Amino acid sequence: MARGRFISLEGGEGVGKSTQLDALAEALGGRGLTVILTREPGGSPGAEAIRKLLLEGDETRWNPRAEALLFAAARSDHIAKTIEPALRRGEWVLTDRFLDSSLAYQGEAGGLGIEAVRDLHRFGSQDYLPDRTLVLQLDESEAGARARNRDGHPGDRIGSRPPSYHAAVDAGFRTMATREPARVKLIDASGPAATVTARLLYAVGDLLP
Ligand code: TYD
Repeated sequence: MARGRFISLEGGEGVGKSTQLDALAEALGGRGLTVILTREPGGSPGAEAIRKLLLEGDETRWNPRAEALLFAAARSDHIAKTIEPALRRGEWVLTDRFLDSSLAYQGEAGGLGIEAVRDLHRFGSQDYLPDRTLVLQLDESEAGARARNRDGHPGDRIGSRPPSYHAAVDAGFRTMATREPARVKLIDASGPAATVTARLLYAVGDLLP
């Protein structure tokens, strides 16, 4: 049985990530692949418990280092319990956020530095990486408008941080695309949803069996 592929979908708030996650899963399923959808923080019972700790409560609940450690701990459990077993079964794993969110949010925007957060991932998860990381990108005014139009979000601890924080998140994702161009691809998220899905599919084309 051939090993599956591991794809992460990333982006700031309000870039249409959930819609595209479902559409990409359907497109890959249509090609005969078994696809599982998962998310971070979360994706395994232990990591979902950590998710509540991270997203609920007020802004001062965790200091930046504690926050980064919790994300890293959740990710370690998610890989061990969900991602790696599925890949071994030959399934494709599509995750809503992964390591690059920590690099962009906690590393770049949170001020810990991308390298420090990558070190946590080396310790927690032996630097386990996706085969491909797709970063949806929209210009900021469009993304802000979309995020504000959604129900119940971004009311969580992190989504509600100021625009300057979210601008730094975007810069962090762009830095990762520059540093690791073979793994991390920036995808234009503007235009009709079907067009964006086609761009995503193209960006994983070389991984298809
Ligand atoms: P979620 O409700 O899943 O948001 P979204 O729809 O934007 O994906 O909440 C996840 C929040 O956690 C989101 O604001 C991004 C943030 N986050 C980090 O700060 N670091 C991380 O490593 C991950 C995975 C998420």
